[in-house]
Amino acid sequence: MQTIQLTRGVPADESYPLELVRECAAAVMQDPKLSLEAMRYGTGYGFNPLRELLAAQNGVTADQVLIGNGSLSFVDLLGLILTPGATVLVESPTYDRTITLLKRHGVNIVAVPLEPDGVHLEAFTKAVQTYKPTLAYLIADFQNPSGATMSLEKRQAVLALAETHNFMILEDAPYRPLRFRGTSIPSLFELNPAKVMQMSSYTKQISPGVRVGTLVGDKTWLAKFAKAANDTYISGAFLGQATVFEFLKRGHLEPQLARLRALYAPRLERMAAALRTNGLTDFLEPDGGFFLSVNLPSGSSIADILGKAANASLALTDGRGFFVNPADGNQFLRLPFCALSFEEIDEGMKRLAGLLA
Ligand SMILES: Cc1ncc(COP(=O)(O)O)c(C=O)c1O
Repeated sequence: MQTIQLTRGVPADESYPLELVRECAAAVMQDPKLSLEAMRYGTGYGFNPLRELLAAQNGVTADQVLIGNGSLSFVDLLGLILTPGATVLVESPTYDRTITLLKRHGVNIVAVPLEPDGVHLEAFTKAVQTYKPTLAYLIADFQNPSGATMSLEKRQAVLALAETHNFMILEDAPYRPLRFRGTSIPSLFELNPAKVMQMSSYTKQISPGVRVGTLVGDKTWLAKFAKAANDTYISGAFLGQATVFEFLKRGHLEPQLARLRALYAPRLERMAAALRTNGLTDFLEPDGGFFLSVNLPSGSSIADILGKAANASLALTDGRGFFVNPADGNQFLRLPFCALSFEEIDEGMKRLAGLLA
């Protein structure tokens, strides 16, 4: 029996714009100036033509744009530049790799419960007052792992707290362009560019292999990130960054995003329907992104089903990894839907229900 992969949030193989990337990479290497710049070392800020293009698109200056090796590297660099013992607030659950990296750097991570419309405001306010964070790491759109999107009211409330209590917000927004329904809510960065640094990534929009992530925001903070980047890896993978530059310059991104939405939206709908058909109804149906998460029925636990999943040829992620206090995730299961065919979704949800029966 073929194993159905419900572990990693990866793009679908059929989503990669192979021909366009091929043309863009070739165009870079055929351009005397761009090719040389792509071959050379640079600064920790990344490939300058791409920085300038993104600065113009975002209405900021180039010293407010940093390009990294994917976007996860920014969390690692954050750990390097924070004062030892500094506090970072995160949502509970949150992206597991962020927890791993911040823990590695000895950051004091304080987790605030997440509701379907964003962090629990009272708990967030209390955590701000009690722990005096340096920064809050928030995934406001189609959150990994829950699929939740923060309401406008909560975005405004969190930003007001950031102003009053003088902390920064690191908005992690790789899924923001992948809205399948409803209307877009202004990003935290758009609402308050002085208090927010926004991470995004072309790994979800073009391909993980290009390994290009972006950080836009306060230039004093970005200078620290750039120094930490330069101290750590000198400069980024410019061939990928130059290829992304060419991809954007040629206007390929918007049509690519439209293709992704058209490919992924029906998969999300199919997964929600398959869950309901199989009697699993305790989940939030996201408006976009890569993930839907299920609360397992009472009496079952993630540990139980993980033990049985391999026999049912189902690869599952341990939901406890998304919680700073792992026991909070005993009944939490994240389900990525983007890279699965309808048949895999239907069969996967049937097998999942079978594990819980
Ligand atoms: C919320 C979030 N942030 C960051 C990343 C890291 O992505 P990358 O380093 O490929 O840009 C991911 C990848 O799954 C993610 O889900």
